Amino acid sequence: MKPSIKPKNPCFSSGPCAKHPDYSIEELKDAPLGRSHRSSLGKGKLAEAIDKTRDILGLPEDYRVGIVPASDTGAFEMAMWSLLGPRGVDVFVWESFSKGWAGDIRKELKLDNVRVFEAEYGRLPDLGQADFDNDVVFVWNGTTSGVKLPNGDWIPDDRAGLTLCDATSAIFAMDIPYHKLDVITYSWQKVLGGEAAHGILILSPRAVARLESYDPPWPMPKIFRMKKKGAVNEGIFKGSTINTPSMIANEDYLAALNWAESVGGLPGLIERSNANLEAWEAFVDKNDWIHFLAQDKDIRSNTSVCFVLDLPEDKVKRLVRLLADEDVAYDCGAYRDAPAGLRFWSGATVETSDIEILTQWLEWAYNEVK
Ligand SMILES: Cc1ncc(COP(=O)(O)O)c(C=O)c1O
Repeated sequence: MKPSIKPKNPCFSSGPCAKHPDYSIEELKDAPLGRSHRSSLGKGKLAEAIDKTRDILGLPEDYRVGIVPASDTGAFEMAMWSLLGPRGVDVFVWESFSKGWAGDIRKELKLDNVRVFEAEYGRLPDLGQADFDNDVVFVWNGTTSGVKLPNGDWIPDDRAGLTLCDATSAIFAMDIPYHKLDVITYSWQKVLGGEAAHGILILSPRAVARLESYDPPWPMPKIFRMKKKGAVNEGIFKGSTINTPSMIANEDYLAALNWAESVGGLPGLIERSNANLEAWEAFVDKNDWIHFLAQDKDIRSNTSVCFVLDLPEDKVKRLVRLLADEDVAYDCGAYRDAPAGLRFWSGATVETSDIEILTQWLEWAYNEVK
């Protein structure tokens, strides 16, 4: 039977992700449009975003938080180009974005003391292989495989190298031991359902020490430059962005942070995301034609939830189209490099009740196409 109720919000894309429930463009009415980002008003808004980020995440006080250009990619590339080189690099790869970082380290930065540990979609590589005398590069959550790190226990507190973590689809949804990470990046368009354009770059004091003591042999585009006269450019971490930011995107991020506070801050966000995963698990338990790509529960993502189906690829594609045509789930096909299947963003901005309604449609659509 075709279900009669549709999800309130059919946006299940894994980026840009769903806006928070009851989002309204009205929330942007205080954006300082047409004003300089260097005015006290503009700079104040950027600094507010930085301060709220620090508070909600509960970051260590000595970690720096900066707003940088070009979304998570900008933030992560900026970190790699500024910090990597003086030590060997271990890269852990288990989906397409981490594979991209490994490729950039080898082919663009042309570093040769690089080891890549790779696992197929749905699994994690052997984290025990990491040598923390090297710099270690990884994502916290593989957005395209639905596989997350179970914890940070494999990272020693007294490491010599730096840890660089792309946390874009994990932060605000998972417990992350910040002190294990020297670089943390993410974009506004993921877990909080903000707008793209800007990234957040978080640096530990050890990352700053590396920045100040090391000059890479390659040229540094202005957009990546975090140093002024040999020292870290502290302005970046107080709201003086490298170039002109979008004040409307910043206002949207502030609105997302306000919403995050209204649902209980970080614990509330994590709880919402976990409840979403539980709704999926209950559904998969009852249906033998759909399987999590991440079979091991410890490493199963509670944000980018990925599935394989007992259906040929063309029928999976038909199912994806059907769900979009019915306006019940948009953009829910697996990532282009991942095994054919489905991926539903299930971070905190997605309502559990919408997932429960969606599962009824999924069952219907499966029966339609099979
Ligand atoms: C793990 C990961 N890294 C990086 C990116 C790139 O993010 P952006 O497009 O915001 O730069 C994504 C986007 O989906 C991602 O999932």
